[in-house]
Amino acid sequence: MDSREYFDRVAPRWDTMRQALFSERVREKAYTVAGLKEGQLAVDVGADTGLLTEGLLQRGLSVIAVDLSEAMLAELKQKLADPDGLDCRLGKAEHLPVDENAADHVFGNMVLHHVGEPSTAIQEMVRALKPGGKLVLTGMGEHPFEFLRTEQHDRWLGFRRDDVRRSFLAAGLLQVTVDCVGECCCAASEGTGEVASVTLFVAAGTKADGQAL
Ligand SMILES: C[S@@+](CC[C@H](N)C(=O)[O-])C[C@H]1O[C@@H](n2cnc3c(N)ncnc32)[C@H](O)[C@@H]1O
Repeated sequence: MDSREYFDRVAPRWDTMRQALFSERVREKAYTVAGLKEGQLAVDVGADTGLLTEGLLQRGLSVIAVDLSEAMLAELKQKLADPDGLDCRLGKAEHLPVDENAADHVFGNMVLHHVGEPSTAIQEMVRALKPGGKLVLTGMGEHPFEFLRTEQHDRWLGFRRDDVRRSFLAAGLLQVTVDCVGECCCAASEGTGEVASVTLFVAAGTKADGQAL
C-alpha cells in the first residue's frame, strides 16, 4: 500500500485518529506565528480533512487546500459544506498545483514527514508564496519510533530542528525561526503497544521581496 492508498483508506476516520495524535493547539500556534489578516490567501498543504483550513476560513482568509488523497479532500468538502473562499486541489507538496507568487501564507501541519522529498516540497511552498509571504510548517522532531513508518506510513522519523532551519534558509527564506510548539504527538503501536511521544516544532520564514525562485 502506498501513502495515497493509506490516506484514502483512513480518510473516513481521520478526525478521530487525529484527536488521539495531536491537539488543536498546534494549529493555534501556527496561526499565531503566521500573523493572519482577513482577506489574505493561504495554501494548506496536506490539508487532510481541513483542521487548518477550517480555522483559516473562520478567520476570513481564502484557502487553497491541497492534498494527494482524493478521499481526504472529499471528507473536507463534505464537512465544511463547500463554503465561499475554499478551493480544493488534488496534488503533491513536491509539485504544488498553485501559481508562483500567489499566497500570503503557506501552511503544512504534520505533513513534512509524509513527503518523499522534503527539501523539494519546501522550495515548492516558497515558490507559491508572494514576496513578503510566510511559510509556516509544524511537524515532528527527530524520533526513534519505527512503527510510525510501518503502521502510519510516515516516510521520515521526524526532523532535527537544525536541518529544518537549513532547508528554509536554502530555499531563500528570511527571518527563519524554528521553535518548540510545547505539544507532543502521541501514538501507540497497534502491533507491540509501544507508545510514542514526540515533540513538535513550528518553523517559519518569510519570502524576500523580489525573491526570484
Ligand atoms: C498527518 S495528515 C496531515 C494533518 C493535517 N494537515 C491536519 O492539520 O490535520 C497527512 C496528510 O498529508 C497528505 N499527504 C501525504 N503526503 C503528501 C504529499 N506528498 N503531498 C500532499 N499531501 C500529502 C495525506 O494524504 C494526508 O491527508
